[in-house]
Amino acid sequence: MELHLLTLTIFCVLASAFPPDVLSALAAVEDLQLPNIDAALDLSKSRTNCGPTPCGGIFNAKEQYVPTTGKHAYASPAANQIRGPCPGLNAAANHGYLSRSGVTTLPETMTGLGDAYGMSPELSAFLAAYAIITNGSPLTGTWSIGGPPPSSGGLLGGLLGGSQGISYSHNIYEGDGSIARNDAYLNNGDAHSLNITRFASAYATGLANDRYTLDGFAQDLLSKIQESIATNPYYFAAPFSTTLVVPVAYNFVINLFSNHSAAEPNGYLDGEMFKTFFGVTGDYPNFTWLKGQERIPENWYRRPSSVPYGIPNGFLDVAINFQAYPGTFRLGGNTNGVNTYVGIDLSDLTGGVYHSSDLLDLKSSNAACFYAQFVQAVIPDAAATLLGELSAILNLVNKWIKPITGSVKCRVIGRYDQTLFNKFPGYKYKPKGQATNYRE
Ligand code: HEM
Ligand SMILES: *[C@@H]1O[C@H](CO)[C@@H](O)[C@H](O)[C@H]1NC(C)=O
Ligand SMILES: *[C@@H]1O[C@H](CO)[C@@H](O)[C@H](O)[C@H]1NC(C)=O
Ligand SMILES: *[C@@H]1O[C@H](CO)[C@@H](O)[C@H](O)[C@H]1NC(C)=O
Repeated sequence: MELHLLTLTIFCVLASAFPPDVLSALAAVEDLQLPNIDAALDLSKSRTNCGPTPCGGIFNAKEQYVPTTGKHAYASPAANQIRGPCPGLNAAANHGYLSRSGVTTLPETMTGLGDAYGMSPELSAFLAAYAIITNGSPLTGTWSIGGPPPSSGGLLGGLLGGSQGISYSHNIYEGDGSIARNDAYLNNGDAHSLNITRFASAYATGLANDRYTLDGFAQDLLSKIQESIATNPYYFAAPFSTTLVVPVAYNFVINLFSNHSAAEPNGYLDGEMFKTFFGVTGDYPNFTWLKGQERIPENWYRRPSSVPYGIPNGFLDVAINFQAYPGTFRLGGNTNGVNTYVGIDLSDLTGGVYHSSDLLDLKSSNAACFYAQFVQAVIPDAAATLLGELSAILNLVNKWIKPITGSVKCRVIGRYDQTLFNKFPGYKYKPKGQATNYRE
């Protein structure tokens, strides 16, 4: 499919989108250059569970307590309720912070993920908008946190292969090298079920003192990517899914699943909480996954709403990981069997407008500029879409995707050379869910 970039003029000053604490972190790392791996490692290891900048010593028990009773009581999903690859979304749905059906809307996502985890409204809205546009239903404004919804019948929306839900969004949303999910190709297209061996290796990073950190998880990301390249002939790091979403998810665990207290206002995550959020029981390494039973722990306190985890935090944590552990930055894939990884330079993909180093740069707005445009590039020609759908999509783009670049004047990409991807067999692999696959 030939994809067209909407040539919308984008203005941004990313600095104005950064909360002050993130700005001071950026100032602190001003001299950090790529070849200086020691400085990057120091910065990575110095991060608290609130990210590179502490949560400001704020702890307000009343504001941060997350209710798990009444309308937020835990319930396992019923047979017709959908769950998918994301423990954050599954747990939120199991506690009624998102519709228990597993089919949700953008406004509900913003409120629900803010209340449950302290994710910023801009970040939740961006993630939900992209889900609706690519794998949901732009006309009804809904998206599925798992497989195809019962009513979609593949007819409504879903620009990139029907309203498949995020479970079947391989290379679009879901990618290879996840914390605890198999690579799609290695598991007959199922990249949403948890693999207990993968969970155990992530768990091992915090065994020594029963504490999980951003730096420990960055190391786990590196080993999972190395394993994918060595075992998955279809390993493919597409520009958004595997390059960005997968690394971001590692940082979500630490930034969004940590418990906060007066003694530890930056939060801490122990093994018990990690298991609860992932629906896992047992003792290392003899774990069992309770499918669809991801939970928010009792008596748990999220990060403060005044220091939410937002888009700038997300980019910053990922860029620090890329610099501290350069093997975690991937744009490319295996070309001819395992261990045949070849990278693509972003410069070739964007006609020289962006460079791979732009995605690793802690200070610039280039990463946001690239991704905001890339996401718009997956929107096909007006002619190819259903009547009414294009305006729904443009509305989502204008309201929730374009603003991620603030008002800096981004360098505009004229055309993507997607033929560069043809040499990767994993690029064309697009597993789909069954019509009856509601829970998966
Ligand atoms: C609208 C919001 C969100 C969307 C659309 C979304 C989507 C996804 C998708 C598509 C994946 C699969 C990526 C992969 O291949 O690894 C994923 C994984 C993950 N997400 Fe989310 N997510 C959202 C919010 C959250 C939140 C709020 C949290 C935490 C509180 C979270 C934590 C995770 C984690 C830990 C994984 C990795 C799971 C594993 O590998 O076992 N996500 N998410
Ligand atoms: C689970 O993951 C391990 C380690 O990545 C892998 O060797 C194994 O084949 C996977 N198991 C299944 C059932 O896919
Ligand atoms: C592993 O856990 C299962 C279920 O909890 C239990 O039946 C089994 O005895 C355990 N095995 C080991 C080696 O601890
Ligand atoms: C969270 O921290 C508080 C204060 O230390 C503690 O009482 C509570 O048990 C912790 N919650 C979990 C789930 O560990």
